[in-house]
Amino acid sequence: MKALFFQAPRMALMGAALMAAGLLAGCDAPPQESTQSGYRGTGAAQIDNKARVQAKREANAVPEAQPAADASGDKASKAYQNVKVLGHLSEGQFLRVMAAMTEWVAPEEGCGYCHNLDNLADDKMYTKVVARRMIQMTQEINTNWSSHVGQTGVTCYTCHRGQAVPNGVWFSDKGPQTAGSAASPAGQNMAAPMIDRASLPRDPFTPLLLGKEEIRVAAATALPTGEAGAPIQRAEQTYSLMIHMSTGLGVNCTFCHNSRAFSSWEESTPQRATAWYGIRMARELNNSFMTPLQSTFPPHRLGPEGDVAKVGCTTCHQGVNKPLYGVSMLKDYLAELGPAPKQ
Ligand code: HEC
Ligand code: HEC
Ligand code: HEC
Ligand code: HEC
Repeated sequence: MKALFFQAPRMALMGAALMAAGLLAGCDAPPQESTQSGYRGTGAAQIDNKARVQAKREANAVPEAQPAADASGDKASKAYQNVKVLGHLSEGQFLRVMAAMTEWVAPEEGCGYCHNLDNLADDKMYTKVVARRMIQMTQEINTNWSSHVGQTGVTCYTCHRGQAVPNGVWFSDKGPQTAGSAASPAGQNMAAPMIDRASLPRDPFTPLLLGKEEIRVAAATALPTGEAGAPIQRAEQTYSLMIHMSTGLGVNCTFCHNSRAFSSWEESTPQRATAWYGIRMARELNNSFMTPLQSTFPPHRLGPEGDVAKVGCTTCHQGVNKPLYGVSMLKDYLAELGPAPKQ
């Protein structure tokens, strides 16, 4: 009895020390780095950890461009048998972009990742059929979405980074459908990295980056309209998407918003408008390119609900406010992946 009495304060102390350690584990180690991203006095600053910034810089180094190719000579449409998208290139430019695509998407597997090596004109491999559509998707981004990607543009590398399946893609996912007291969790409280493990709906993407539901928290009418509970669900999905956007870009909410009035466009930064176009662009890529390719992909590439992997902010941004820190790889591949020439 006596012994236990004396133990108690020691145990409490140990408990407190353990708790403090637990709390601090969530903090970043110094030194921190702060970048002002809005007007002075508004608290709009991006705080990051120096070591992490350094690691991100290294992970986002850009590979060297392939040596320039001779733009004269036979057109690919004439030189080869089954060219549907890149026929306007010279033979040299065509093979140059094939070499680049190999480096960007399948550096270990090589040409054989997309090609039947006995007959390069053959379309038997799904990867080649997908890649042809990917070339058109990349051209579409660079032609019609300068409202988002500016003159920087994108190449296959922006998303793929040397791997066949890019990091930071998403699938429709209602989450496990359990019975009992945890029934109908509405896809919540299931840690999902794409929303930084927040306890919010794990799939805000299907309604907001594939569907065109309004991204709103502030109601537009005095009384609720439409389906019961919809405004609350929409608000939760909105916050979940906002967390994806912040994590995907490696920024705080104040990179785009003045936190005293999240909905006010007047008080938002120019980056919020760029993000608005980014949302519309992601919707188009998912609806016009990814979803129609669904039946082309083999079952092992599909998600739990049988849909194809789709594009979110992280797919290009990979934790950085401008993908690859704003370095343009497109400038070396304008003929190949820039605005498509008029047919
Ligand atoms: C990521 C997929 C991918 C990789 C890797 C790839 N290619 Fe291709 N290749 C394609 C696509 C797609 C086409 C069709 C382009 C079109 O329709 O405009 C094509 C077409 C070709 C053709 C034209 C064949 C014909 O007669 O129609 C040649 C030649 C070719 N590739 C060579 C190569 C070589 C050499 C490599 C390796 C250095 C390579 N490719 C790597 C996707 C790929
Ligand atoms: C905006 C992002 C984005 C860009 C840009 C992009 N891709 Fe993709 N790519 C994807 C996504 C998402 C998938 C689906 C992942 C999967 O295969 O499950 C994909 C899949 C593929 C696949 C199928 C891989 C496999 O093993 O299933 C190939 C091949 C491919 N892309 C080639 C290319 C080429 C070549 C380019 C450039 C001309 C390109 N991609 C540009 C996002 C992108
Ligand atoms: C990269 C820019 C960006 C970041 C970062 C960002 N937002 Fe947003 N936010 C937007 C855009 C753009 C919209 C409007 C979307 C639309 O209308 O399609 C929006 C809308 C909202 C709305 C809805 C406002 C209304 O009118 O109902 C709220 C609330 C919100 N954001 C909160 C947040 C929070 C909280 C964070 C941080 C976790 C955050 N945002 C991070 C760009 C951003
Ligand atoms: C297809 C690739 C791609 C996708 C997908 C994408 N972005 Fe971007 N984004 C870019 C590129 C490239 C730039 C750089 C443009 C430039 O240099 O002017 C950029 C720039 C931005 C900027 C401006 C950053 C700054 O420092 O000024 C914001 C904000 C942004 N994106 C938000 C988003 C959000 C939010 C999403 C998802 C809804 C998204 N992006 C999806 C490619 C993409």
